[in-house]
Amino acid sequence: MSLATPPLPDDALASGPRLGVHTLSNRLFVAPMAGVTDRPFRQLCRRLGAGYAVSEMVTSRKDLWNSLKTSRRANHDGEPGPIAVQIAGTDAPMMAEAAAYNVARGAQIIDINMGCPAKKVCNKWAGSALMQNEVLALEIIEAVVGACAPHGVPVTLKMRTGWCDAEKNALRLARAAESAGIAMVTVHGRTREQGYSGLAEYHTVAAVKAALRIPVVANGDIDSPEKAAQVLKFTGADALMIGRAAQGRPWIFKEIAHYLATGETLPAPKVLDARAWLVEHLHDHYALYGELTGMRSARKHIGWAVRTLPGGENFRREMNELQSCEAQIQALNQWFEALAEQHERLPHLNTAANSVCVAANDEDPTRLLA
Ligand SMILES: Cc1cc2nc3c(=O)[nH]c(=O)nc-3n(C[C@H](O)[C@H](O)[C@H](O)COP(=O)(O)O)c2cc1C
Repeated sequence: MSLATPPLPDDALASGPRLGVHTLSNRLFVAPMAGVTDRPFRQLCRRLGAGYAVSEMVTSRKDLWNSLKTSRRANHDGEPGPIAVQIAGTDAPMMAEAAAYNVARGAQIIDINMGCPAKKVCNKWAGSALMQNEVLALEIIEAVVGACAPHGVPVTLKMRTGWCDAEKNALRLARAAESAGIAMVTVHGRTREQGYSGLAEYHTVAAVKAALRIPVVANGDIDSPEKAAQVLKFTGADALMIGRAAQGRPWIFKEIAHYLATGETLPAPKVLDARAWLVEHLHDHYALYGELTGMRSARKHIGWAVRTLPGGENFRREMNELQSCEAQIQALNQWFEALAEQHERLPHLNTAANSVCVAANDEDPTRLLA
């Protein structure tokens, strides 16, 4: 079945949704991903076409606010606004306090995590587990909105379609959240029970969009410009959020924007441009994490960047043995220069393999939308 979708006739690329005083710069958002979407990665995605980026989640546990991990997550130096901080927790007063704390430190938008199979907070499961307890979920929403409203800070909500297949309560919760003052809802088209398995479905996202007046964002398995156009059209969503497909392919936002505007596919980036983006990103990354942690945590970004390129898997294994940031950069420069001698543009073995969920989607992407 053909993937071709005609360009959207409407204002698919007009400025993004409005949240309080903020108008987001477009409708393509990078998803919050703990351990991935730190400030350097968010800035990279913003430079390459993402209109909005929410930080990795910050716990509502006060005793952890001064930890190195949380303080790195709270780093927004030089980041384009609005600064959006995601909070996760299970206790309404603690979540309100976490929201107020982050607003006092510069957060301009607070996002509540009910979308991620987050870790236990205070012996209870946070994140999407909250969807199982709508009363508590609403208590948290009301408390956080109450803490942010006096500061004019909009609160957004990220959720899944429900707890499990038999209990898809996204629509009910989204309606209640809108009534409680939530400014935008993102729906990942999977249940909590699914984790990341199976395929995202967009019927529930479309139902939420149809029922709400506030902006609704579609998320899950969007891994190509064609799929982005299909999901946008099918759901009528105000924006799209992209997570795993941006790992190692942060220019996917530009690719999607171009396709939505013209119906045409951009050529792959030039090898030397991709190298420059990666090297710049890594320098930023090392500066945030320091030599040892930076060198180790950079490995995943380098691995994602090369995994679909010829010889990428061997390079990734060799690079994992290197023990300094300088050695990583040097190896990377040499490897990309050698690649550039053979190819002007990135010669992906399988571009779509940049996404975790591709194999299933490749069978017939449109069937998900029918
Ligand atoms: C490594 C990883 C970390 C994630 N961390 C968060 C998080 O901190 N907060 C959150 O709301 N969702 C988190 N998610 C879920 C993503 O935001 C997104 O909803 C999900 O990956 C589906 O989108 P995708 O198919 O485009 O990746 C995470 C996902 C991944 C893969």
